[in-house]
Amino acid sequence: MIRGSYAFALVEKNDPETIYVAKNKSPLLIGLGDGFNVICSDALAMLDQTTHFVEIEDGEMVTVTADAIEIEDPKGNLVYRESYEAQLDLTDIEKGTYPYYMLKEIDDQPTVMRRLIQEYQGESGEVVIDAALKNELLASDRIYIIACGTSNHAGWAAKSILEKLTQIPVEVHLSSEFGYNMPLLSAKPFFLFLSQSGETADSRQVLVTINQLGLPSLTITNVAGSTLSREANHTLLLHAGPEIAVASTKAYTAQIAVMTLLAKAIGDEKAVPEALDFDVFHELSIVASAMEALVDEKAVISQFAEDFLSDTRNAFYIGRGNDYYVSMEAALKLKEISYIQAEGFAAGELKHGTIALIEEGTPVIGVITEEVTGSHTRGNLKEVESRGAHTLVIVSQELAKATDQIILPNVHPLVTSLVAVVPTQLLAYFATLQRGFDVDKPRNLAKSVTVE
Ligand code: G6P
Repeated sequence: MIRGSYAFALVEKNDPETIYVAKNKSPLLIGLGDGFNVICSDALAMLDQTTHFVEIEDGEMVTVTADAIEIEDPKGNLVYRESYEAQLDLTDIEKGTYPYYMLKEIDDQPTVMRRLIQEYQGESGEVVIDAALKNELLASDRIYIIACGTSNHAGWAAKSILEKLTQIPVEVHLSSEFGYNMPLLSAKPFFLFLSQSGETADSRQVLVTINQLGLPSLTITNVAGSTLSREANHTLLLHAGPEIAVASTKAYTAQIAVMTLLAKAIGDEKAVPEALDFDVFHELSIVASAMEALVDEKAVISQFAEDFLSDTRNAFYIGRGNDYYVSMEAALKLKEISYIQAEGFAAGELKHGTIALIEEGTPVIGVITEEVTGSHTRGNLKEVESRGAHTLVIVSQELAKATDQIILPNVHPLVTSLVAVVPTQLLAYFATLQRGFDVDKPRNLAKSVTVE
């Protein structure tokens, strides 16, 4: 009788030893314990109880007692399903000596980059990607990236990497928009779903349509066995370890890195010169070291947060090209946890209206990692300075001037977003601490959003 998206549990008054559970679209798992069973929406929440879980599919009903579970399909037939063991343990989800998960997860990023190198590097130095996935991508004439929030920003950051290395055009879409306003598709589209959790309802709704149309798809996610992973044709994992803070950090950089690896694999196969010249594992190891240097700059960045963000009502990040895409993510990070009204803006567009918001002391943070656009962004920073803005520059070492404040170690021009974002994550973290808010659990937000 129930419609829509749900996951629920019922206990009958007269029989408190039995729980009846059902789900549609929302995640629900049964955890198998020794002498007990539990139900949960995410394995992470139950790791202190068990690491063995059984997945439940849409429309099924399950009767759970302490020593048995009975799954029925929508027609009432009994279903047998093997349990799986979650490849996680409690230490993966503990904060250790960190005050907040977000800080731990920012610090995890160099390790995640190195883990991805290990996971995706083949014996002869090639990127190991399933042949069927490669063939589907090679046969496609356009890649559609579908994602929400930070994952959507990772899609933007990877767009030019994918286009340069594979020579396949890429479009990036918000799931919630694409779902109801699908653009005209190319003749051979390929769908790439980006989702840390693999459970986001807005993205899943698009995947359901794509599957109905019989079009090829890949999910890039941090959670093996998640709904988007199960329902897409292919999955690539982020290997980022559980991300617990609501504000996504290491999943964003892992998503960009995995798409870079994918782009390299496809580009090599097509013999695209830019791909053949791009030593992806070497470049990602340089990124890992650069990230390490940046996360060691906490004291300096905390001071900038204090100087620029401690009592402001709003703030802007500006950049062009990839630096614009990083600016969008930087602004999202800042607003979602510090509640500063922040906007990531294409630096050149600021003057066409939004510059009216600049007042005495408005913080404007410029991101500069591209030589061709760097001088233009500097020009835009001057424009806002002359209207009273308080400017901060995040810039690659090779483009830096003496007065610039945050210097990024040099990395390959294709992957600068992976390092440029790190100080912006730390700025958001410290601004939030200084303003006295809970970094890991911002108001009104959830880690995975399973409603449209
Ligand atoms: C929620 C989270 C965001 C996240 C978005 C997409 O809104 O609060 O941090 O970026 O969902 O999540 P996904 O799991 O699909 O990457």
